[in-house]
Amino acid sequence: MLNQINEAVRFIQSHGITQPEIGVILGTGLGNRFVKEMKNTLVINYNSIPHFPISTVESHKGKLIYGDLKGKKVLAMQGRFHFYEGYDMQQITLPVRVMKFLGIDYLLISNAAGCMNLKWKKGELMLIDDHINLLHDNPLRGENFEVLGPRFPDMSQPYSKKLNKLLTEIAKKKKIKLNKGVYAAVQGPSLETRAEYRFLHQIGADAVGMSTVPEVLVANHMSLACCAISVLTDECDPDNLKPVNITEIIATAEKSEAKLTELYMELISKL
Ligand code: HPA
Repeated sequence: MLNQINEAVRFIQSHGITQPEIGVILGTGLGNRFVKEMKNTLVINYNSIPHFPISTVESHKGKLIYGDLKGKKVLAMQGRFHFYEGYDMQQITLPVRVMKFLGIDYLLISNAAGCMNLKWKKGELMLIDDHINLLHDNPLRGENFEVLGPRFPDMSQPYSKKLNKLLTEIAKKKKIKLNKGVYAAVQGPSLETRAEYRFLHQIGADAVGMSTVPEVLVANHMSLACCAISVLTDECDPDNLKPVNITEIIATAEKSEAKLTELYMELISKL
């Protein structure tokens, strides 16, 4: 794994991506607006980077974009890798390790998620305060490399207190509704049954999705401060469940993209 990280880092650096300060992962339906705000961009397709998996999901573009935003050097992943695509946990989290080795100090994550908290509405945002890993695997399983991080990383505060506090203040100032809650990561790719939504709600999850947690585990392993915002794309009321389709989920995410972009841009300006 260390060789893979180094080879990917060297390749990316040789393309002029030398000093990123902040990494951003753009989830389903969230890849466009944010990138349009970046200036002087350099773009690399994932499929040309050594050891990067290939994005198999149509709605995930698969590009690494480097540029200036609010006076900072930002490295954005337009599209991510998911466990359900068939890759293992180490493969899907390799880009996070690579971004850390390229020099980022902060990782800002986004995703589209189903909403089990019935006080909230689709289209709203949720700041992830904590998570439940139901992927039944962990990217830290296997040999531990002490140069990357400890064998048993602490998870008492997986989402940075500092970043979450700043985001809460920014949302308040901008009058953007930012719910706070627990995200459960499931394997997918099928959506949940009514009984599964009921179960997830009962165990304390407010939102459910198929990503983010592996990236957060790896970020914590490397002491990389991170935060994550879910765009709530569908209401998962087990007693009143309508069929969802991915086109609708993407459309809802795209509608909320402006709010997410505003929050992250303001956060970047304050870091
Ligand atoms: N379940 C899992 N993943 C999701 C959902 C959902 O309801 N909505 C968006 N991503």
